[in-house]
Amino acid sequence: MRILVTGAGGMLGRDLVPVLSERHQVDGVDLDDFDLTAPGAVHQITSRRPEMVMHLAAMTNVDGCERDPERAMLVNGQGTRNAVEACRELGIPMLYISTDFVFDGTKSEPYREDDPVNPLGHYGRSKLAGEEAVRQLLREYYIVRTSWLFGPSGRNFVSSILNKARENGEVRVVDDQTGSPTYTADLAGALAELTESDKFGVYHLSNSGSCTWHGFASEAVRLAGIDARVVPIKSTEFQTPTRRPGYSVLGNYNWIGNFGRPLRDWREALADYVRLTEFTGGKQ
Ligand SMILES: NC(=O)c1ccc[n+]([C@@H]2O[C@H](COP(=O)([O-])OP(=O)(O)OC[C@H]3O[C@@H](n4cnc5c(N)ncnc54)[C@H](OP(=O)(O)O)[C@@H]3O)[C@@H](O)[C@H]2O)c1
Repeated sequence: MRILVTGAGGMLGRDLVPVLSERHQVDGVDLDDFDLTAPGAVHQITSRRPEMVMHLAAMTNVDGCERDPERAMLVNGQGTRNAVEACRELGIPMLYISTDFVFDGTKSEPYREDDPVNPLGHYGRSKLAGEEAVRQLLREYYIVRTSWLFGPSGRNFVSSILNKARENGEVRVVDDQTGSPTYTADLAGALAELTESDKFGVYHLSNSGSCTWHGFASEAVRLAGIDARVVPIKSTEFQTPTRRPGYSVLGNYNWIGNFGRPLRDWREALADYVRLTEFTGGKQ
């Protein structure tokens, strides 16, 4: 298959492209190639003649989206609509990456794929606008919601925590938000499998298990062998422009139903990540 991947230079894209390239002809594009919000974006995609689009590109700075909601909606809503238009013109499927932030976090058990959405902030709202464009205009699509990504190809929560723990000997991390960390390498493998299945629909894909950000940080610091205190704090003590869901664990029901197994536990994935990044120099 000829697969066009948007956001190919991002944290997930840089892990996904090599995995897909083992079996497909991959055309990875990013902001340097063209802006998905610009006039002509649809043509930029159709002229490349893909047989599938995997749409990863997004404005992912959650607080940045809160500060500039118009830009967030332009990139994540309209930019996605442009990519969707291209798929419609070509009559090809899209895989769209969405987020746990489409939920409001009021549940206390894992979110199902068909649970009602109710984003709390502009990032979630703009990603949901992307989902709506996909649903409205395409018959064949995968919408894959994932959460708490970490991987070797981008600055992420784990790399920031390890750097801070090393520098300061202490990190303060919120312990009243619960979710499921997801290793980009594991997600990339699952996405590759999904695209070859023709089992279209809405999926939740995250590593198994759940934790708070404090639990996540504590495990990372432990695995990296850093002697630092990881201090639990409340979200109210860590002011950010964005209201975040208190609980956003994604139940991977459709994935397990169709593919028969969950992704491995987040702790195992984190151990691999820490081994890999510590081996390549520790500081990220
Ligand atoms: N990170 C997470 O924890 C997380 C959680 C759930 C879902 N997701 C979703 O997963 C996907 C991948 O996330 P990620 O963390 O890999 O993101 P990322 O590292 O921020 O990569 C996103 C890429 O999109 C590009 N991009 C931004 N605006 C664009 C535009 N207007 N036109 C074309 N390209 C544009 C960016 O280019 P520049 O770098 O040059 O701006 C960047 O290379 C996103 O859709 C995100 O919403 C992420």
